[in-house]
This record gives sequence, C-alpha cells and structure tokens, in this order.
Amino acid sequence: MTRISQIVAGLDIGTAKITLIVAERDEKGGLDVIGIGNSPSKGLRKGVVVDMDATVESIKCAAEEAELMSGVSVGRAFVGTSGGHIRGFNSRGVVAITSRDHEITREDIRRVLHAARSVSVPQDREIFHALPQEFIVDDQGGIDRPLGMSGTRLEVNVYLVTGFVAAVQNLVNAVNRAGIEVEAVTLENLAAGQTVLSRDEREMGVGLVDIGGGTTDLAIFERGAIRHVYSLPSGGDHFTNDIAVGLRTPHSEAERIKMKYGCALPSLVPEDETIEVPSVGGRKPRVLSRQLLCEIIRPRADEILGLLREEIKRAGFESSLNAGLVFTGGGCLLDGITEIAEDLFDRPVRRGTPNGIGGLIDVVDSPAHATAVGLVVHGANSRRELKPAPWRQISLGRVTTRIRDWFQDFL
Ligand SMILES: Nc1ncnc2c1ncn2[C@@H]1O[C@H](COP(=O)(O)OP(=O)(O)OP(=O)(O)O)[C@@H](O)[C@H]1O
Ligand SMILES: [Mg+2]
Repeated sequence: MTRISQIVAGLDIGTAKITLIVAERDEKGGLDVIGIGNSPSKGLRKGVVVDMDATVESIKCAAEEAELMSGVSVGRAFVGTSGGHIRGFNSRGVVAITSRDHEITREDIRRVLHAARSVSVPQDREIFHALPQEFIVDDQGGIDRPLGMSGTRLEVNVYLVTGFVAAVQNLVNAVNRAGIEVEAVTLENLAAGQTVLSRDEREMGVGLVDIGGGTTDLAIFERGAIRHVYSLPSGGDHFTNDIAVGLRTPHSEAERIKMKYGCALPSLVPEDETIEVPSVGGRKPRVLSRQLLCEIIRPRADEILGLLREEIKRAGFESSLNAGLVFTGGGCLLDGITEIAEDLFDRPVRRGTPNGIGGLIDVVDSPAHATAVGLVVHGANSRRELKPAPWRQISLGRVTTRIRDWFQDFL
C-alpha cells in the first residue's frame, strides 16, 4: 500500500471557520492526526456558500496550513454539510428473498434499501443518507444486520436525509476549485457522532447538539442510529451580535469579549467583576460590570436551548434522551451553557471532544474540531464501501453524473 492510500482527510466547511484535518492510518489500522489547518470562513452564511471565491480562498488557506504541518499533499477529502437545508424523514422498503436457500445476501440488502429510498423528493433536493433504523425479516423486527439470516421477506425502515442539491453542489464546487476532490459528502452530526459519542450513548439515546457560528444542529441517536435531525438558524454569532448591540461595541470586540469573558449564567460570575469595553466612533472605552455581559448573553442561550427542547418534544423524543445531551461546535465553549441545558432538560449534559484517534491529539482536542475529526473517522470507516461520489467533480476533467443509488451508509 502506498502512503497516499493511507491518508484520510476531513474538511469541515463552517460558517465561522474552515478546518482540514489530515490523518494517517497506522499499521494496526488506527488513525493518527498528522496535520491540521484552520482558516476563518468568509463565504458562507448558515452553512451555505454565498460567495464562491471567498470560500475557495478560505479552503485553500486551511489546506496549505494542513499540508505544511503534515508534509502531505491533500488530493481528496471527506466533506461535511449541515444547516437549514437539511431535512430528514422516515421511509420503508420491502423485497422478497427469492434465492433457493432464502438466505439474505448483500444484494438483497442493497435492493431493500433501494426500495426504501425510491420515494419522490422535490426536484431541488437530493437524498444523501439512507440510515437504516431496523430491518424486519418476515415478521421479526429490531434486526440490525440481516446479512446471512433466513427469510422470505425483507423489510427495512430508514431515515432519509436530504439536502438542497444546489447547496451541496456548491460546496463540492468550492472544494474542487481549491484543488481537492470530494470523496463523500456527509451529514456533519453523523460524522461528529462517531468521534464524540460512546457506543452506549448512541444505544441508550442521546441528543448531539452542534452550536456553530450560524446554526445549531441537532441529531438524536437511539438504538445505535440517527432517528431525527433538526437545524436552528441561530448559533454562536447571534451571541456576538447581541453583545455588539447591547454593549455598543464593534463586532470584532464583541467577539473577543464573548470568548474571554462571556458566560451565559450570571451566577457563575463574581458580582463585582468589571470588564473594559471599547466604544464605537472613537469614543473612550467604558468599564462595565461583567454581570451586565452575562445578562445580555443569557436570553439568547435560553432561546436556543428552549427551541431545541420544543423541537425534541414536538418530534416525540423527549423520553429518548436517556444518556442526555452532548454539545459540540465552537459555540458550546461559552461558559454556563451546559449548566443551563442540564437544568432545562433535567438530563446529564457534557461537551464532546474527539475520541478514537491518535497522533497530534492536542491540536484537535476541542468540541470545535468534533466535525472535522468525525469526518476523518467516518470517512476511514466508510472508505471500503464507497462508490464514486454522486456529486459532479468539476475541476478534474471527469464529469460524473450524479447517481441516485448511492449507498455508503449501511453495508
Ligand atoms: N471560547 C469560546 N467561547 C464562546 N464562543 C466561542 C468560543 N470559541 C468559539 N466560539 C464561537 O463558536 C462559533 C463558531 O463555532 P464553529 O467553529 O463550530 O462554527 P462553524 O462550524 O464554522 O459554523 P457552522 O457549523 O454554523 O457552519 C463562533 O460563533 C465563535 O464565536
Ligand atoms: Mg460547524
């Protein structure tokens, strides 16, 4: 095996930052991080490309940094997508097992999944994950892996994840223009779940909440699979905007103040603590109470967490979160947010940092890197099973048409 085939790269194109993580498989099959590149994201809004050139430049910057650190040229990467264009819904497929011995083969599983995803979706949407919830062989349900079992009828319940074709294609185009081929486009929470959640949490029921810059993305895992996804159009940037308006300070200062002194829970901050706040328009800086900053932040935290709770209730998963909630994304680094969530949901809440990877772990040991590491881990696991990416790769001179039958999730 050449060195190149052992390299796996995960590219997280976020609204706030773009991260490229390069990992190498070691001899035992483990993964070692060997490089990381971060660059401020300039061309996205709420997870969607709105300025192609700026996005390409940001990807190139992150790639250069990661290549310099790793000493490897990154030719292809697993890319994540999330945000308001993602939708999920349930579907069902049924096939007859016609072989003489009635033993279920990979081909039968392929057929039943094909049947489950043969539903009509709006023209502007594409199914990019078919996540099996359970297989049913004859009348026996609750089966995870039907391969090799015997029966005459195979059914499957799947959760189909769709996204806007244009949104995903623009992401692919941006990556291609930065000189990188897309190996697969993966739902970010699906990828992050592989590195921050334990198997037990995924079995028992857990809510994975990614507080990014522009959006907060929720995925509910139960009995080992994603059962529900949801995206809220508010994220860390909304805290910054509230601070800029509330303290009448420039946006860049509001961001700095949030990161250094921000806290969503006033009771965690000493009452007499003060902070210096730069003013706009050349006026003198002011000294204000840090409690005041907390009071500006708190309502937004209540709003985001309250809306998540409503959605979990609405979708019928309130009693499913036996393992509680796990927070990722840069926005969850805000002090006090997990304490408020614990109180509101009355469930254990923790911040999720990447696991199951070696090498330069210090540089990825943050909830903000959960998606990029997750893309590496998910990508490495799925590489064996991958068919050609269904997205047109524009810069490679090999224009592949999109294939609707694209199953990377299950075999
Ligand atoms: N220490 C910190 N305290 C508070 N907020 C933070 C901290 N570090 C980062 N953030 C916030 O996290 C947000 C960015 O998170 P992240 O990098 O996960 O977003 P993204 O993946 O680029 O965006 P998205 O997922 O929405 O497309 C920003 O709003 C940033 O201000
Ligand atoms: Mg993100």
